Amino acid sequence: MFLLSCNMGLYRMAIFIFLLPHMAQMTEISPGFKIRITSRGLELLKHETQKFVEQELGDITMPEMHGKKGNLQYSITDIKITELNLTADLSFQPVDGLLFDVQNSSITLNFQRRVIYWLIQDVGAINASAEGVYINTTLHLAKDEEGRLKIANVSCDASIAKMRAKFGGTFGRVYDFVATFLKTGMRFILNRQICPALNHAGLVLINQLLETIPVRAKVDYYVGIDYSLLSDPVVSGTSLDMDFRGMFYNLQNKDDILENYSVNPVLNEYNRMIYMALSEYFFDSGLYSYFKGGVFRMHIANERMPKDLEMLLRTTYFGAIMLLNPALMDAPISLEMEVTSAPKSTIKPSGATATVHAGVRVLLVPPGKSPVQLSSMTMESKFNAKVYMKEKRLAIQLDLRRFKIFSNQSALESLALIPLQGPLKALLQVTIVPMLNNYTKKGVQIPLPDGIDLIEDMVEYHDGYITIGANLHFRSGLKELIEKTS
Ligand SMILES: *[C@@H]1O[C@H](CO)[C@@H](O)[C@H](O)[C@H]1NC(C)=O
Ligand SMILES: *[C@@H]1O[C@H](CO)[C@@H](O)[C@H](O)[C@H]1NC(C)=O
Ligand SMILES: *[C@@H]1O[C@H](CO)[C@@H](O)[C@H](O)[C@H]1NC(C)=O
Ligand SMILES: *[C@@H]1O[C@H](CO)[C@@H](O)[C@H](O)[C@H]1NC(C)=O
Ligand SMILES: *[C@@H]1O[C@H](CO)[C@@H](O)[C@H](O)[C@H]1NC(C)=O
Ligand SMILES: *[C@@H]1O[C@H](CO)[C@@H](O)[C@H](O)[C@H]1NC(C)=O
Ligand SMILES: *[C@@H]1O[C@H](CO)[C@@H](O)[C@H](O)[C@H]1NC(C)=O
Ligand SMILES: *[C@@H]1O[C@H](CO)[C@@H](O)[C@H](O)[C@H]1NC(C)=O
Repeated sequence: MFLLSCNMGLYRMAIFIFLLPHMAQMTEISPGFKIRITSRGLELLKHETQKFVEQELGDITMPEMHGKKGNLQYSITDIKITELNLTADLSFQPVDGLLFDVQNSSITLNFQRRVIYWLIQDVGAINASAEGVYINTTLHLAKDEEGRLKIANVSCDASIAKMRAKFGGTFGRVYDFVATFLKTGMRFILNRQICPALNHAGLVLINQLLETIPVRAKVDYYVGIDYSLLSDPVVSGTSLDMDFRGMFYNLQNKDDILENYSVNPVLNEYNRMIYMALSEYFFDSGLYSYFKGGVFRMHIANERMPKDLEMLLRTTYFGAIMLLNPALMDAPISLEMEVTSAPKSTIKPSGATATVHAGVRVLLVPPGKSPVQLSSMTMESKFNAKVYMKEKRLAIQLDLRRFKIFSNQSALESLALIPLQGPLKALLQVTIVPMLNNYTKKGVQIPLPDGIDLIEDMVEYHDGYITIGANLHFRSGLKELIEKTS
């Protein structure tokens, strides 16, 4: 085993040295995981963003206005936004932004007036509207120190062309001069409130939702996953692209990570709202981390040992036991399997496979005495791995495709192992594979915020990576999602 891992090390080093000049030219780490949001995804986001902005602007509070002009005293209170009619668009703004653009829209307000002219008082409600409302907001996206996606800053520009208010009531024309003055004031105040409301919505509220995306998160007892962004997101005219590290790590030894040799996945489809790519490195780092965590080790004895297999092992090793010590004839037999090097995944257009090398030992375990080894053999197996999405988790279904055992000591012993081939394969198929699948079906979360689900997903296999296209579904409005996070 030492020899084996040593050889692997040398082999890897050879590859490393061979690739070194090439790698030095690559300034960036290749991503193990990528996400692309397409224009179709943006269309859905636009819908949600508009609703959200309408809610946020609807919550703007306006200060009261009081004043005195000659014999006229006025106060304007309870200024509320009653209706927003936004004509809005959300578009990609290269190289790092999303532009939310409101054109020629209207905002309807309602307020209470109280006017005293000489000694006569006039009170009542008034409807007013702001017309020709233009808002131009760009959300600039970036990665923060932790590697999380966030809105780094918001540039905002708002203007209101006209304010209308109909002061009817008792005094009619008396209001004219005050009305002009009030409308100007209201327009000024409203205009000044819009951008701070949108800045807050972006920098505080949306960032709060982005906080729910896992960056470095524990997956289970053994491993964690690193979804930190490798660079700032890149916005083009047709997509928003994010490169994540996409690497598993062992929780006990976070620095022992697999060298990333994988290809950089290519996304070139735009039909669905979102595309994700996962490279071989993504899967290999997982296999490596579990391997380093000592997970791939198994002891099959007693009730877990199928009776017919035990019989077969007894028959096969009858001679060996007689030679060793006939008194051990009835001692229980056990099997020990240990994966000897980190399993390796291979992704091709025809599908994904994982290759596993393991050592198998057959032991006699007399009660109260130390175990006696009867045989040691090498096992090579290959699994088909089917990747699928389960809600927002990425799960894998394995099934055994190729299985081979042989002796690494002699060809003769390899021949003797032929009868064991079928039963051991069955053991793997019937006992171990279902156990692995029961485990892998829990899946691992992908980096999307809470409350946003994937639907209609479609998995495709390419040379060296997998892509998953899907549509997005908001479980509730953006505002409700954000409220749930606080
Ligand atoms: C692999 O990752 C290491 C750091 O973990 C980095 O220094 C190196 O450039 C990466 N290599 C490639 C080919 O991405
Ligand atoms: C807002 O839009 C709706 C439908 O587009 C329209 O019926 C309504 O009159 C508009 N309100 C204002 C104040 O423009
Ligand atoms: C803005 O909207 C109003 C009413 O909907 C319309 O009369 C006006 O022509 C529009 N202005 C522009 C510049 O589109
Ligand atoms: C203000 O608008 C509301 C609804 O649009 C309407 O019911 C109400 O009568 C209006 N009030 C005045 C004073 O015009
Ligand atoms: C919005 O603002 C951006 C940058 O501030 C500018 O490039 C763009 O022309 C503006 N768009 C509109 C419609 O005003
Ligand atoms: C906004 O953030 C982007 C990305 O981090 C940065 O390039 C840009 O300079 C920032 N702009 C302002 C005005 O801070
Ligand atoms: C044969 O395989 C077993 C199990 O993997 C291992 O422990 C042993 O060292 C190997 N022997 C040789 C000579 O490679
Ligand atoms: C599957 O896993 C769950 C928990 O991880 C466990 O409770 C259950 O017994 C397992 N089922 C099988 C058939 O192994």
